[in-house]
Amino acid sequence: MKNLRNIVKTGLMGIALLLFVSCNSTEEKKIIDFAKIQVQGTMDAELTSPPFVPAPVGDRAAKKLIVNMEILEQEGTMTDGVKYVYWTFGGSVPGSFIRTRVGDEVEFTLSNHPDNKLPHNIDLHAVTGPGGGATSSFVAPGHEKTFSFKTLNPGLYVYHCATAPVGMHIANGMYGLILVEPEGGLPKVDKEYYIMQGDFYTKGENGEPGLQPFDMQKAVDEDADYVVFNGKVGALTGDNAITANVGETVRLYVGNGGPNLTSSFHVIGEIFDNVHIEGGSLLNKNVQTTSIPAGGAAIVDFKVDVPGTFIIVDHAIFRAFNKGALGMLKVTGEENKQLYSGVKQEGIYHPEGGTIQTMPNGEAKKEVNLNKTLAEKVASGKQIYTKTCFACHQANGEGIANAFPPLAKSDYLNADVKRAIDIVLNGKTGEITVNGAKYNSIMTKQTLTDDEIADVLTYVYNSWGNNKTNVDASMVSEVKNTH
Ligand code: CU
Repeated sequence: MKNLRNIVKTGLMGIALLLFVSCNSTEEKKIIDFAKIQVQGTMDAELTSPPFVPAPVGDRAAKKLIVNMEILEQEGTMTDGVKYVYWTFGGSVPGSFIRTRVGDEVEFTLSNHPDNKLPHNIDLHAVTGPGGGATSSFVAPGHEKTFSFKTLNPGLYVYHCATAPVGMHIANGMYGLILVEPEGGLPKVDKEYYIMQGDFYTKGENGEPGLQPFDMQKAVDEDADYVVFNGKVGALTGDNAITANVGETVRLYVGNGGPNLTSSFHVIGEIFDNVHIEGGSLLNKNVQTTSIPAGGAAIVDFKVDVPGTFIIVDHAIFRAFNKGALGMLKVTGEENKQLYSGVKQEGIYHPEGGTIQTMPNGEAKKEVNLNKTLAEKVASGKQIYTKTCFACHQANGEGIANAFPPLAKSDYLNADVKRAIDIVLNGKTGEITVNGAKYNSIMTKQTLTDDEIADVLTYVYNSWGNNKTNVDASMVSEVKNTH
């Protein structure tokens, strides 16, 4: 009797083991099959800025998919009166949405605009290969790089820049989403949108007006001044709200660029019918809030049954009401009193504690005056500095440890003005020692006139404890001509 029981037990275990093995090998087989899919023809990928996504893949065959992505470093608005220099994939934060299907061979060209200041690259989490493409895509301003990869796993994936200091590149907005649809595409829905959360770190406090530089220490401390959807406060509110009609199904492709914070993604007054947890193949149903890690994503969909404004938040709620992580889905159509009978009060929702609303200062006029006083040169140089230099060397010339050398009280700078002019004119690559610390990064050649170089260097030399050298344009042209 005991023996029989043991035999049965062993048999059951054997069956369980067999099931486990066969399940496992089916999974394996699938992945191998995706790798074996032959592409049929070539097509250019449609790329879209948030909150929009390209057309679904439907039942198209796997193809060679050409993706051309341009990196642009550009000033934008964080909130009313607050400017920020964003580093972007395709001119938006998050970067352009890429839509592929499993088995596609993606030929990816990354171009770094000649006006940019820094080298960049791209790590796509959808890539099976070293660095997710980062090692093959490292590209200097004015250059482009092409690499290719095959999409082996369906899902929604983050891509981001992985150039040192990686955290800073991501914090400045260098992230986006790439969707790999399964064979035959995702189930059809009526509306699809692209939302990505990010946390930002500025020298000034939340709402402090003016052009705000990145703050490395706050980023290290994970002490965000702004937590936002789609790169800025209000990217999805008011006239920028996403929309749908009563009775429609809405799918949101939601990513989290971080660099630091996990999102507790929630739509007030809606329940997600389906959530692709972490952007993968596992489906959860009837979800209130889904957790999206930094460097992760989720696909959520739901049917909108009643009209109104549905508030999209990071339910770590101070982020929503005090730091900007708040968007809107406006649903229009017939009311359904059976589903929701409450008094509708659209339009009087005042999120508490919004950012300080200050009118931006008018752009200062550009002066063309060849006989400038020292004070005028310093003033002009300061403007050039805040447009060109401070993203790396920081507002008070303190630089960033292990990445960008300080300009404040800089022995390297004060020792040789001609060398300083030469570096601004021609760029600098390789190791240097500044105030006893070694730096090995890349400063690219700056596109400034001789006069602008003279002014910006005069500003730097007359600030932060430097030796008060007055650089004039003739010194710049002299250095230029010795080359
Ligand atoms: Cu970058």
